[in-house]
Amino acid sequence: MNACIRAVVRTAMYYNIEVFGITQGYKGMIEDDIRELDSFSVSNILQKGGTMLKSARCDEFKTAKGRKKAYDNLKKRGIEGLIAIGGDGTFTGATHFYNEFKIPIIGIPGTIDNDIYGTDFTIGFDTAVNTVLDAIDKIRDTADSHGRIFFIEVMGRDSGYIAIRSAIAGGAEGAMLPEKGTTDDDVINYIKENIRREKTFSIIVVAEKDSPGNSVLLAKKARKELKNKDIRVTILGHIQRGGAPTASDRILASRLGLAAVEAIIDGHQNEMVGIVNENVSHIPLKDSIEKTKPFVKDLTRLIKILSI
Ligand code: F6P
Repeated sequence: MNACIRAVVRTAMYYNIEVFGITQGYKGMIEDDIRELDSFSVSNILQKGGTMLKSARCDEFKTAKGRKKAYDNLKKRGIEGLIAIGGDGTFTGATHFYNEFKIPIIGIPGTIDNDIYGTDFTIGFDTAVNTVLDAIDKIRDTADSHGRIFFIEVMGRDSGYIAIRSAIAGGAEGAMLPEKGTTDDDVINYIKENIRREKTFSIIVVAEKDSPGNSVLLAKKARKELKNKDIRVTILGHIQRGGAPTASDRILASRLGLAAVEAIIDGHQNEMVGIVNENVSHIPLKDSIEKTKPFVKDLTRLIKILSI
């Protein structure tokens, strides 16, 4: 997100537009925690994880009263456009805000889950996948040396994007994805099949789904059925959400930051900018919330064939 903030600020400067940073998103908007930024305020942040503007969940923004307070704070400063970086929740708030006050808003997709319709990739996703990949490579050493079965649980809530891409890149035996509706029994049977084929160890990447820890239950079940097997679980958790962004993420964030400012200048409103097939795209914010990103079927086929 820092790379994106930097790009927004510097593009605005380039076009002689005043730019403000709002601390903690909608919370700061309501609490009037807003400060002017210039090109030096975003120096030396490109390589840092997290966000210099901080982040917060904000229940008050879900109310009309809260949004009115936020609007008054923008108005007071003569702020005429808003750029909001985030996922579903951020864009839902932005849509209400736009409908009520008609202030031009451009959304930028930023979530490690990559589950936003209208862009091939979201900011943070590639970095998260690479963090998981690094973990898989390291865990593989133990899995191989000790002949163990590992379930590696990754983030992604309802989205299996982190799981499938890290599993392919890490040469895992399989990935358990929410989109596929794979059951615990499917996974256990698949491992049994691998054992029959004399695979000495297995790595299965599991998307966390509704709550972290599901892989522990899966392992418990698997231990009952695969009695003589050493089965372990690693839950990667929030290490996936931090650290220096990859080159791809920095470039994506920079492109989207620039595109968002230019979208506002060109009169776009209530839209999300994304990158589709390497080109900047604009879609209604509503679509980014309501439509479901189609899952790339090729990837599930790929892992099935290559893990033979
Ligand atoms: O939406 C991004 C995400 O990282 C999910 O993959 C994960 O389930 C969730 O956020 C974790 O949220 P929190 O930091 O509030 O526990």
